[in-house]
Amino acid sequence: MTDTREITLTVNGTEHTIDVEPRQLLVHAIREELDLTGTHIGCDTGNCGACTVLKDGKPIKSCLMFATQADGSELMTVEGMEDLPEAGDDLHPLQEGFREEHGLQCGYCTPGMIMSGKALLDENPDPNEEEIREAISGNLCRCTGYQNIVRSIEYAAEELEEGEIAAADGGVVTDADGSTITPAELTDEDGEFDCGVENCCGGPTTDREHDSVSGGERE
Ligand code: FES
Ligand code: FES
Repeated sequence: MTDTREITLTVNGTEHTIDVEPRQLLVHAIREELDLTGTHIGCDTGNCGACTVLKDGKPIKSCLMFATQADGSELMTVEGMEDLPEAGDDLHPLQEGFREEHGLQCGYCTPGMIMSGKALLDENPDPNEEEIREAISGNLCRCTGYQNIVRSIEYAAEELEEGEIAAADGGVVTDADGSTITPAELTDEDGEFDCGVENCCGGPTTDREHDSVSGGERE
């Protein structure tokens, strides 16, 4: 009979109790016991970073740890990204960045890159290129598209910063006559933002240029 141990992992906010063999690597437990196959295995030796997940908020290579060593910890995998508040109803800005900036080719390294990018932006919301390259230095892309990966993370940093500006001001616009209006009130039946200004930029919550053409000012 196979010797197994019961461990508890909180993964993407949900607690799981699973039985694992003492020799089972964390990456295998994530993929095979929890069915979260977004975390990839590229080398099983700690070289490629495809298996990167966040453990208690820090990026780790999940092929370098036994599952039993992670007992009681909180993990985040790429599947948890779009459930974060920054994702709104869509993709997380990091995921969106990889799509917009063509940060993936075959996509095999992408989940690990996204998790390393997430760890970086959590600690340093405004990284420069050198800091981004340093943060993903443990993640290999065999398609070698590093330039676009860096741009994808820069895209996410910008989006997240703009989101913070919007959250900070609540997206409320004060009109020239002093009355306040919200973006919801300025959304037409097709869901398009329209403030009524000719050539409206479409985004008073994130675009400070808008004020100069609207004649209004943000609270
Ligand atoms: S699979 Fe873990 S570093 Fe390559
Ligand atoms: S996109 Fe193919 S390995 Fe990175």
